Amino acid sequence: MKAVVVYESLWGNTAAVAGAIAQGLGLGAQALSTAQALPEVVADADLVVAGGPVFAFHLSTDHARGSIRRHPEPGAPAPDWSHPSVRSWMDALPVGSARCAAFDTRVPGPFGKGAPTVADGLQAKGYQLVAPPEGFIVTGKFGPLRPGELDRARRWGEQLLERAQLV
Ligand SMILES: Cc1cc2nc3c(=O)[nH]c(=O)nc-3n(C[C@H](O)[C@H](O)[C@H](O)COP(=O)(O)O)c2cc1C
Repeated sequence: MKAVVVYESLWGNTAAVAGAIAQGLGLGAQALSTAQALPEVVADADLVVAGGPVFAFHLSTDHARGSIRRHPEPGAPAPDWSHPSVRSWMDALPVGSARCAAFDTRVPGPFGKGAPTVADGLQAKGYQLVAPPEGFIVTGKFGPLRPGELDRARRWGEQLLERAQLV
């Protein structure tokens, strides 16, 4: 089974979670940014896991990214603009039938989720969801991840593998 984990990440939190999920999956699974996860890389995957950050109560949008870019907060860490939003990546994703799962990173509390939107986008392209969308928590606006979240992401990756093999 080939698995890929695809992420959008401006400050590295979602990238770190993607890396931990890939570790949990094993199988040589790779965590790839939305720029690295070209259609031909995803085309032969049996399991596609994708995630992104929550900005302004929703899965990152090009509008939110534009606003972050135009209005940098004084003293904020520099964002990584090397890759597009996971929404744009999903728009360009060819139709497929592989299994899939979705995750996000966000602050604690009722301030929006992104993973359900990723799950909807993947399913709209024909992919089969094997687990409920999952969120991983940061303790501040730019991170870091809450202690234990990378372990939880690793375990979630292990569970995804089991579920994907059962479906
Ligand atoms: C400008 C900005 C807006 C944010 N808005 C929200 C929000 O509405 N809800 C939320 O749960 N987290 C919000 N966050 C927290 C991010 O979701 C969190 O830091 C995420 O892990 C960033 O992912 P990244 O490091 O992979 O870019 C916001 C962070 C920033 C910088």
